Amino acid sequence: MAKKKLIAAPSILSADLGRLEQEIQECRTAGASFLHYDIMDGHFVPNITFGPDFIKRFSKEGMFNDVHLMIDDPLKYAAKCINFGADLITFHLEAVDDPIETQEMIRQFSPKIKVGISIKPRTPIEKILPFLNHFDLVLVMSVEPGFGGQQFIISSLDKIRRLRKYIDDQKLNTLIEVDGGINAETIEMVREAGVDVAVAGSYIFKSSDKREAIKTIIGA
Ligand code: DX5
Ligand code: ZN
Repeated sequence: MAKKKLIAAPSILSADLGRLEQEIQECRTAGASFLHYDIMDGHFVPNITFGPDFIKRFSKEGMFNDVHLMIDDPLKYAAKCINFGADLITFHLEAVDDPIETQEMIRQFSPKIKVGISIKPRTPIEKILPFLNHFDLVLVMSVEPGFGGQQFIISSLDKIRRLRKYIDDQKLNTLIEVDGGINAETIEMVREAGVDVAVAGSYIFKSSDKREAIKTIIGA
């Protein structure tokens, strides 16, 4: 059977911030179509990165702007991210009381916005299945959120496989994205398990050949 082609989503967390514009252009010309922004608040995760201003600065580079909010209060910043060019806002199930209401409120900021829901490695998929139909994307964290460069948690594969089956059985359009510890080896495991989009930070940006790393992810 032919290899399934994936969408590559480089995470700028691991990029060279001093030449970010060039880094993004290199990713785009190599075939990556999503650009993944990891926004952290130092509360939901033990790290702080950048805020929505980053999206404003880099969202015009011709990529699909995939914003991963690892923050306690996604609604506080969602509108700003959307106004600055976000195409997809993904928030964490663990951060909100009512995920359906949260996605409804995010959609009110713009009719075009896509909304995703993410789960941490220890959150079972059963917690999101009942309302997956409200989401454009489900993001399976395959490391504890907070830092790039961690090792892929192998139990994520089973979560991806079961999500794939559920989404196909229910005929949903929800995309499955995986984030954390993706490299030349784990990409083939997640491809086989059924993901659609793969986020990668260190594998792409610490590689001596970004183009090759992106091609490996896509499966071209
Ligand atoms: C981790 C972030 C990831 C991170 C992935 O909390 O959500 O997007 O950049 O980095 P790698 O690919 O290095 O594991
Ligand atoms: Zn991320």
